[in-house]
Amino acid sequence: MSTLFEPGKLGDIALANRVVMAPLTRNRAIEGLVPGPLTVEYYRQRASAGLIIAEATQVSAMGQGYLDTPGIHTPDQVAGWRRVTGAVHAAGGRIVLQLWHVGRISHSSLLPGGAAPVSSTARRPDAQTYTKEGFVPVSAPRALRDDELPGIVAEYRHAARCAMDAGFDGVEVHAANNYLLEQFLRDSVNDRSGPYGGSIENRARLPLEVIAAVAAEAGAARTGVRLSPLTTFSDTPRDSDPQALYGYVVGRLSALGLAYVHVIEGETGGERVPAGTAFDHAALRRLFNGGWIVNNGYDRAGAMAAVASGAADAVAFGRLFISNPDLVRRLREDADFNPLRGDLLYGGGAEGYVDYPALDAA
Ligand code: PHB
Repeated sequence: MSTLFEPGKLGDIALANRVVMAPLTRNRAIEGLVPGPLTVEYYRQRASAGLIIAEATQVSAMGQGYLDTPGIHTPDQVAGWRRVTGAVHAAGGRIVLQLWHVGRISHSSLLPGGAAPVSSTARRPDAQTYTKEGFVPVSAPRALRDDELPGIVAEYRHAARCAMDAGFDGVEVHAANNYLLEQFLRDSVNDRSGPYGGSIENRARLPLEVIAAVAAEAGAARTGVRLSPLTTFSDTPRDSDPQALYGYVVGRLSALGLAYVHVIEGETGGERVPAGTAFDHAALRRLFNGGWIVNNGYDRAGAMAAVASGAADAVAFGRLFISNPDLVRRLREDADFNPLRGDLLYGGGAEGYVDYPALDAA
């Protein structure tokens, strides 16, 4: 049997197996952007994952980019998440929270006082977000001033404190998918001068300050980071030198003693490794002294091979975990999967959320 189904550790987080539930936006937060009873049930059903990485959750009101995504910055949100972590722990699972600031992928109607989204840049991507009016183009962003960046770090630090108070086993800093932190990292977006623009060291400065602050709050061995060196999600071209940029970042993260790095290897929600791409994931991994989670369209055989070969410590599954609450068992037994109802991913209620059957019920 493959080591995919054997226990493991990511920093101080002990896993019953190496099958991870990827963070998945479902837009079902209730009043106050609090995770409600359906969300408690959804994660409880999936507690046999070695680790659940709960959905991207905004660290502040300005960090929201889509309708009805949950937050982790108010007392009500902490109380809601505490019910989620309690249910997962009672079912024997482990759960961390993904800390999210969308930056320029937002719309003024979602932000306090109708504010402009904030970013490293004032340039607007040709991307859409989901609001009360349905899909709309994102609003033009405002470039953050350097003297505002300590406030961004403080928002992440506060959110990390709130997550640990809510009973999570750790946190994952979302530095992927072209949200705020990646808007600083990539030279295809970051057009700043000064200490937070230009060189790789400067572009990595804010993400590294954020990750250090979060690790100080949550404990480095309970902190992970998600990266997506190649994705062009949200009309964002790749960096001019992804190997150098992400190599620098991962090397710096290694020195912090983090629990893990979690890499989306190709296009987010799309192609595994885009044709003709020269990027050496194994070389990236060699720079990091800690757990390595891979993600991006893995199937059973690919996941078993990744762990058995040592290329990864764990494999994260997204869509398969939405439609199969007992995914670990199905993978172990090589059972069939429930089909995904793609029209029920974002928003709505129980349908397409907590009604996918487990094997015994199917
Ligand atoms: C989304 O809401 O579509 C979404 C959120 C977070 C991601 C990727 C996609 O990292």
